[in-house]
Amino acid sequence: MNIRVFDTPSEAGVYAASLIERVLQSQEKPVLGLATGGTVIPFYRWLVEMAKRGLDFSHAVTLNLDEYVGLAPDHPQSYHAFMDQQLFSHINVARENIHVPRGFAPDLEAECDRYDEIIRRNPIDLQVLGIGVNGHIGFNEPNHTLLSHTHVVNLSKETISSNARFFESESEVPRQAITMGVQAILSAKQIVLMAFGDEKAEIIAKAFGGEVRTDIPASMLQLHRDTIIILDQRSASKLE
Ligand code: PGA
Repeated sequence: MNIRVFDTPSEAGVYAASLIERVLQSQEKPVLGLATGGTVIPFYRWLVEMAKRGLDFSHAVTLNLDEYVGLAPDHPQSYHAFMDQQLFSHINVARENIHVPRGFAPDLEAECDRYDEIIRRNPIDLQVLGIGVNGHIGFNEPNHTLLSHTHVVNLSKETISSNARFFESESEVPRQAITMGVQAILSAKQIVLMAFGDEKAEIIAKAFGGEVRTDIPASMLQLHRDTIIILDQRSASKLE
């Protein structure tokens, strides 16, 4: 596990974007695992800037980590909409190569199976992650067991209140999501986790400065061979 600390999220975003560039330029059919949330916004901004200057996504496949259950893709708070707004509408990735779990699917179990099949056919070269204040990755919430495959999850109280900032009120935050499981994440060839700000300092210290525990799902990344943790001074402040 490599830990890189930057002065600002924007500088960190440049570095993370350069890792994506390397994958795009070195693979015939690069598969990018992508994340949503406030943390990744500066990073996507840099990718868009690089795309304007010729960075080519036309051969890339993208797989998003998760989506809220019950939100249609055009719902402004859906992760489909977030990805379109922040990244997909600004780069030349082929629409048919973009994959986001369908939280609006009538049969969610079948949707989880469909998504696992897509992951199986497209082994992930680089997985981008944020981290929840409770240590979740994707929406794999702290628990005494963790699920390996794509599944429907009941969101934890912390996650609902933390994500309420994107909605009009906390009551509008969906209570469930579909998420990739930990096996899909850990099977990625390279993992890049980003976390910024004081509110992430404590969980970063626990996840990467302590033991591997299922009630801190991000700590599992300690077991992965090629993980880069990208922090700013604030999120790194409690790490030994
Ligand atoms: P955030 O979310 O980037 O909005 O803090 C990260 C996450 O929950 O994984």
